[in-house]
Amino acid sequence: MKTKIGVFFGGRTVEHEISIITANQAMSSINTDKYEIIPVYISKKGLMYTGEGLQNLENYKDLDKLISTLTQVTLVNDGEKVVLLRYPTKKLSDNVVNSIDVAFPCMHGTNGEDGTAAGYFEMLNVAYIGPDILASSVGMDKIMMRRAMKEAGIPSLDYVAFYFKDYIKDEEKYLKEIEKKLRYPVIVKAGNLGSSVGIKKAKNHDELIDAIEYSMQYTDRIMVENAIVNLKEINCSVMGEPSDCKPSEVEEPLGAGEILSYQDKYVSGGSKGGTKGEPTSKGNKDKGMASLKRRLPADIPAEMKEEIQKYAVETFKVLGCRGVSRIDFLVDNDTNEVFVNEINTIPGALSYYLWEATGTSFEKEIDELVSLALKRQREREDLTFSYSQNILALQGSKTGKK
Ligand SMILES: Nc1ncnc2c1ncn2[C@@H]1O[C@H](COP(=O)(O)OP(=O)(O)O)[C@@H](O)[C@H]1O
Ligand SMILES: [Mg+2]
Repeated sequence: MKTKIGVFFGGRTVEHEISIITANQAMSSINTDKYEIIPVYISKKGLMYTGEGLQNLENYKDLDKLISTLTQVTLVNDGEKVVLLRYPTKKLSDNVVNSIDVAFPCMHGTNGEDGTAAGYFEMLNVAYIGPDILASSVGMDKIMMRRAMKEAGIPSLDYVAFYFKDYIKDEEKYLKEIEKKLRYPVIVKAGNLGSSVGIKKAKNHDELIDAIEYSMQYTDRIMVENAIVNLKEINCSVMGEPSDCKPSEVEEPLGAGEILSYQDKYVSGGSKGGTKGEPTSKGNKDKGMASLKRRLPADIPAEMKEEIQKYAVETFKVLGCRGVSRIDFLVDNDTNEVFVNEINTIPGALSYYLWEATGTSFEKEIDELVSLALKRQREREDLTFSYSQNILALQGSKTGKK
């Protein structure tokens, strides 16, 4: 029997469309001799749908029309397996639409990559691809991530973090702290968002105040850090589980502006013809993150590449990741220092282009992701999560209050 993979994508996130692209890239690379694909699209309202039409990217141009061809479902653990149940249910009809053996979340950003998808699959007790709740949520939170990196001794930029509500009570205190610990230019970032939302550079005191106020529109927590003036960005993917993981080839994403914006990353990436004469990925996968202009392999000295691969693996281990992640580095060209900037625990296009450059096909990558998910599920079943005995039913047991 084929293993049934439920591919989950879309969701309540600004990266909704990117997620659709990632999922379709993955679905077109899944080996259907071995696996049955069950696409589950989560609308911007958070409703779940399944249907054949979800496997053709063209259909997404008219979302309302696509949805009208789909079946709305909800997931239920029936005691033996996790089933997709038609919702609303129909009387006198079998409402079980399908079942899944492994959940494959291809959901970037909030309400997915941040641990919510992992939590949902944990509650359903189904095997799932990718890191658990803790690794996902720490990885999504820029401030918690920075604290983890500092504690683990992995090079990362100095920062000052605070809540907006505290800042407005005593602006001077925080501005002083920033100016004491950091030096201009600085970058102000929203604490827990991705996709370059809420990020602004500040070259002086006045710009700093403006940048903080700008970021505050998006979040309640802010992180300010030193800006690297002569910057090179390098990304490296890591695949596996904490005790056994390996780094990929490294890439240099090439942005058009000062800050690699949402536009650069996703919107302009879909346009035809590379403008900078840089190689881009080919074929129908040539969309979203995978089509961002890049140098692959990155043109950096061998020692720097090794250093980056080493810190990428350490970051993956410190967070306790699983599956495939992409760790993004900032390199200071003036000093040759490398800093871990962030981790994407469900990276765009699942970093397949980095693995292809390492000699692992996308199909093989998915095979590995599925077996890692099933392995974790087996290992968990061996651990004791609950006792079969009902303590309340034991005669003479000390129940109730002391
Ligand atoms: N400290 C920094 N110095 C210079 N540029 C930076 C710095 N931090 C971020 N950037 C630029 O801003 C972009 C977005 O920041 P990042 O931390 O990656 O947030 P996001 O979650 O939005 O991807 C980076 O890709 C980089 O181009
Ligand atoms: Mg980034």
